[in-house]
Amino acid sequence: MLLTRNPEEAPAQARLFNVAVVGATGAVGAEVVACLERRNFPVRDLRLLASPRSAGRAMTYAGAPVTVEAISPDSFKGVDVAIFAATSDIARTYAPYAMEAGATVIDNSAAFRMANDIPLVVPEVNGGVLASAPRLIANPNCVAAIAVMALWPLHQRARVVRLIGSTYQAASGAGAAAMEELRLSTQAWLAGEAYPPQVMAHPYAFNLFSHDQPIEPDSGYNKEELKVMAELRKIMALPSLAVSFTCIRVPVLRAHAMALTVEFETPVSPLDAETWLSEAPGVRVVNNVAANHFPMPSEASGRDEVLAGRFRRDLSDPSGRTLSMFLAGDQLLKGAALNAVQIAEGLVR
Ligand SMILES: NC(=O)c1ccc[n+]([C@@H]2O[C@H](COP(=O)([O-])OP(=O)(O)OC[C@H]3O[C@@H](n4cnc5c(N)ncnc54)[C@H](OP(=O)(O)O)[C@@H]3O)[C@@H](O)[C@H]2O)c1
Repeated sequence: MLLTRNPEEAPAQARLFNVAVVGATGAVGAEVVACLERRNFPVRDLRLLASPRSAGRAMTYAGAPVTVEAISPDSFKGVDVAIFAATSDIARTYAPYAMEAGATVIDNSAAFRMANDIPLVVPEVNGGVLASAPRLIANPNCVAAIAVMALWPLHQRARVVRLIGSTYQAASGAGAAAMEELRLSTQAWLAGEAYPPQVMAHPYAFNLFSHDQPIEPDSGYNKEELKVMAELRKIMALPSLAVSFTCIRVPVLRAHAMALTVEFETPVSPLDAETWLSEAPGVRVVNNVAANHFPMPSEASGRDEVLAGRFRRDLSDPSGRTLSMFLAGDQLLKGAALNAVQIAEGLVR
């Protein structure tokens, strides 16, 4: 169903846009809908699409119910902006229909991220590419989007040459069903009951494990790690950046955390990093050394900003060019929905 806002509610000259959200019932899609509303995106009509399982379900936008429709090739008639938050297969199948119908597509899946002719955008880093009005824009992997928010402002001052990261990734990164598995398996564990894993490959309550994506035999890295590494190189336009990640799933409901060790061309002190990041858009420094208070998923959840702190020289590099830090960011927001809506804002601006 299309939700039509009363045109009188909008300022006289403001252009309004017909927006479709594909995967609106999922963890990311629901946040896309919330971000569109919270950020007052100039929506005329909102079309919420999902699988046939969700057809007929009511969601709420701007205080009004919107009925979810099953996606079909005809879903995009009259749509200006289509934000996809479903699987890569759905994106590959339906993005061409959306573009054929005249929509600009912003896709959260991995389907198009590494295609040479498709921009992979974090607006604070490379939002300039939106000026050329691309018809299809890829939204990065959640770890890449969060990491680059802190890396880019430092890179602009001291040039990053090598990066080693370890992640502590929340259930929400694997979607709504994984969040439910964490809740249910934790309840079962506390009740002393068995809970055979259904979504994750391993028991999730009070446990952590290597990211659930398959391992690539040649390199020994899993697909999540390889995505993060390749996408960081692409977003930062540093094709030969030396980068390595270890991605771990932890029993946190929402918001990813990560430890980054970054080698720069020139020395960067902890104070430099704190100062530069406190001036960076979309980053909030949380670095209360006396209180041992640094970025935490609980404080990053539901927040737009990426939290950065625990800046310290890496003592294994006496040159002073290597710095360690810790980040936490809501991967449903900056790592997915918020970034997608910021891209849409950049397109219609
Ligand atoms: N979660 C994150 O933090 C995150 C971050 C960055 C990128 N992403 C990417 O964003 C996408 C969505 O992730 P998610 O975590 O939101 O997953 P999710 O919670 O599992 O939601 C998936 C959504 O896709 C819809 N869908 C599934 N099969 C469909 C079909 N055959 N036709 C139409 N719609 C279908 C689902 O609809 P039903 O409810 O009807 O099944 C649901 O709305 C994925 O590509 C993911 O890789 C996720």
